[in-house]
Amino acid sequence: MSGYGFPDGFLWGVATSAQQIEGARDEGGRRESIWDRFAAEPGRVADGSSPAVACDHYHRWRQDIALMTWLGVGAYRFSIAWPRIIPTGTGPINTAGLDFYDALVDGLLAAGIQPFPTLYHWDLPQALQDRGGWGARDTAQAFVEYCSAVTRRLGDRIRFWVTHNEPWCVATLGHEEGHHAPGHHDPAEALRVAHHLLLSHGWATEALRRDVPGAEIGIVLIHCPAYPASASEADRDAARWFDGFFNRWYLDPLFRGSYPADAIADRVALGHLGGADLPFVADGDLAAIAAPLDFLGFNYYSRVVMQAGPHGRPVAVKAVPAKELTGMGWEVFPEGLDASLRRVHREYQPRRIYITENGAAYDDPVETEGRIPDPRRIAYLREHLLAARRAIAAGVPLAGYFAWSLLDNFEWGFGYTQRYGLFAVDFETQERTPKDSAYWYRDIVAAGAVDHPSTPANRGESRACDP
Ligand code: FCB
Repeated sequence: MSGYGFPDGFLWGVATSAQQIEGARDEGGRRESIWDRFAAEPGRVADGSSPAVACDHYHRWRQDIALMTWLGVGAYRFSIAWPRIIPTGTGPINTAGLDFYDALVDGLLAAGIQPFPTLYHWDLPQALQDRGGWGARDTAQAFVEYCSAVTRRLGDRIRFWVTHNEPWCVATLGHEEGHHAPGHHDPAEALRVAHHLLLSHGWATEALRRDVPGAEIGIVLIHCPAYPASASEADRDAARWFDGFFNRWYLDPLFRGSYPADAIADRVALGHLGGADLPFVADGDLAAIAAPLDFLGFNYYSRVVMQAGPHGRPVAVKAVPAKELTGMGWEVFPEGLDASLRRVHREYQPRRIYITENGAAYDDPVETEGRIPDPRRIAYLREHLLAARRAIAAGVPLAGYFAWSLLDNFEWGFGYTQRYGLFAVDFETQERTPKDSAYWYRDIVAAGAVDHPSTPANRGESRACDP
């Protein structure tokens, strides 16, 4: 590994998720997901849009694989839609749904791209929500059945498996804050949901180990480091408070088999729990959740700066001027990436880590001759890759990096207003156009290095060949 380079075998990839790109809502036997339902409710999605068509990837996947081939990536993180596989949540398996992913996986393998599927990226079948969703313990069992249906068909060809994407978002954004499907405002339910997600991960991991010899299994967590707004004791405690519920609430059960005591006490103080005993935890659950993992998937976008707030509930404050924020209003803070990776390595020791998402939303207009200069996205990716390099140099077992995202797509509650793609998508025509960041990332992947003197500094110098 040179001063610029990443280790041999480092996996370079791009990431997407089913609900955000596939479209074909009513095709191939697919049934409604909680996001189809949620997006159809007035006021839920910023631009009132729907994921019904999205990037039409269901019909254009061959073209999208060609974009990845052009980028030169070695892996593709996508998700499998439960509403395509078992459309009513439990019960009959929809062969047409499996056929779609079967063809996609074969297409990827033929192109020399490792499939890196996520089994749950937030698109629960609405039929299961109608029976209590993730708030019901039975949903964890249903998840294992769904996973088995997938692995029976695809397990012979896929090495990497991710159970869940960002359980914090499902639990808190979906069930406490109401920003995500199913849009609930019930903190006690959110805690139950978090537990059932983790439990379903543990049970699915056991089933995967049994059914797919050689599978490498992981879960994807979003990590957001919390920094105190001042050196005061109260602000430092505010940072601890955020970290406890956002990061450690998931890391601790997965790697230590227990929920963090201080964060439990915080929830008791808020009245979200009756006491330190967690009523939703049954015997054996924590051991199942802490089943050994082959890797941790690590999503990183930004940090929070925390301040003591009124009524004992800390608040997040903005630390930088608005012009330095991404389109999402998130601070660009690459130092937080290597600090967080080092922290997780030190405190939890996952065998291996992949950065399974990292990227930035900016609105970048098309310039003359179809060119889309996106210097802020390039700077963001470059600085975060340098941070990843620093973490590797410090001994973190980081084995890959997936840029979020291959395509502009349906960004959940923001609809199509936030664009993360390396490729721009015209949602009228479905035309894909590489942004300058796509050319830049292609050079990085080819060199396996950032800022190497032999690679163009980017900015479109190597635009010889269009995808
Ligand atoms: C993550 C999600 C992903 C995408 C990015 C911007 O939290 O996993 O689907 O929306 O944020």
